[in-house]
Amino acid sequence: MSKPEIGIGLVGSGFMGRCHANAFRSVAGLFDVPAEPRLRVLADASDELAADAALSLGFERGTGHWQALVADESVDIVAITAPNVLHAPIAQAAIAAGKTVYCEKPLSTTAVLALEMTEAAEAAGVITLVGFNFLRNPMIKLAREIITSGEIGEVTGFRGRHAENYMADPDVPHSFRTDPQGGGAVADIGSHIISMARYLLGPVAEVHADCRTIHETRPTAPGMTQRAPVEVDDMTHALVRFENGVSGSLEANWAATARTMDLSWEISGTKGALAFTQERMNELQLWSGAPERSGYTRIESGPSHPPYGRFCPAPGHHLGFNDLKVIEVAELLTAHSGGTPCGPDFREAYEVQRIVEAMQVSHAQRQWVNL
Ligand SMILES: NC(=O)c1ccc[n+]([C@@H]2O[C@H](COP(=O)([O-])OP(=O)(O)OC[C@H]3O[C@@H](n4cnc5c(N)ncnc54)[C@H](O)[C@@H]3O)[C@@H](O)[C@H]2O)c1
Repeated sequence: MSKPEIGIGLVGSGFMGRCHANAFRSVAGLFDVPAEPRLRVLADASDELAADAALSLGFERGTGHWQALVADESVDIVAITAPNVLHAPIAQAAIAAGKTVYCEKPLSTTAVLALEMTEAAEAAGVITLVGFNFLRNPMIKLAREIITSGEIGEVTGFRGRHAENYMADPDVPHSFRTDPQGGGAVADIGSHIISMARYLLGPVAEVHADCRTIHETRPTAPGMTQRAPVEVDDMTHALVRFENGVSGSLEANWAATARTMDLSWEISGTKGALAFTQERMNELQLWSGAPERSGYTRIESGPSHPPYGRFCPAPGHHLGFNDLKVIEVAELLTAHSGGTPCGPDFREAYEVQRIVEAMQVSHAQRQWVNL
């Protein structure tokens, strides 16, 4: 007997759009999902762009109007991989139509909008999921298990960082990422390390941040020589205190020369320590606390760390970035079909957005900000 079908509508076909499409195409071959995704409609900024992308990514049709995608009866899940400023209007329309919403991070451009989206979704009872895909890494799940089991004792310190180099060149032009409405390193990649910090250690109580713009101007658009001021941060450093009393620091930096994907953290406990970087995403470093064995031991990912075995029966063969999206989509399809609920949902992403904004407020006021 064939499985029921779930119609997918995807808005945006850039970096993340391709990644979502790939995940929806491949998930049923890797996971025992309760329903088969069908790639129905792709929306982009124009009919022409959408038609080309629909063909190349395997969708049945394209449209230059995301409103048509949301209204299409064959679409059950609306996946949003468009620029941040479009997340709220598309999500709100999809919620009003009673559809499951799978939105990229950051959830919106302000915490107020993110809360409105959250409340609308909760009132309508629709399923939501936000693309904090790095949480799907089996090594991150293992880290949380180690922390909650007490193996490293009481956690005393956290140092987290998301550093990349994609804006290090002053001639990288303006884009939605430098839009003063919700842009900047702290929103773009700070949101990832904030979500990771919350996943591992729980709610943040207060922050004291310093935001800095390194490149004061950038070209207005690709290929332009005219330059316009940059109004967002290139890097943010923040001191943080978690509700459980742990203190530490968070950094977001998109101008970190030499760093390509340093979403990394180190957690010290009274009996041991853990360390991780996404640049070596198939490894977790553990120090188990024996004084005569100081220094980290490398734990390598393998089938004993679910769902690694869905991809490969042999350890050491490594998962990749796109696999994390496949895991995310598997959990989304299960929840959509009435199975185990998925997260992080809009409410969790709203909490992340509050911390992003608290850091910006802290910088402006030069003081600690309570969450
Ligand atoms: N989870 C992650 O690891 C991750 C990584 C990168 C980006 N993102 C997020 O994904 C989103 C998209 O980022 P990206 O890097 O793919 O950007 P991108 O610029 O590569 O792609 C954006 C897409 O949206 C389309 N678009 C623009 N205006 C549109 C409109 N009016 N209607 C429909 N489509 C429109 C563009 O044509 C393009 O296809 C952002 O919110 C970003 O923060 C998440």
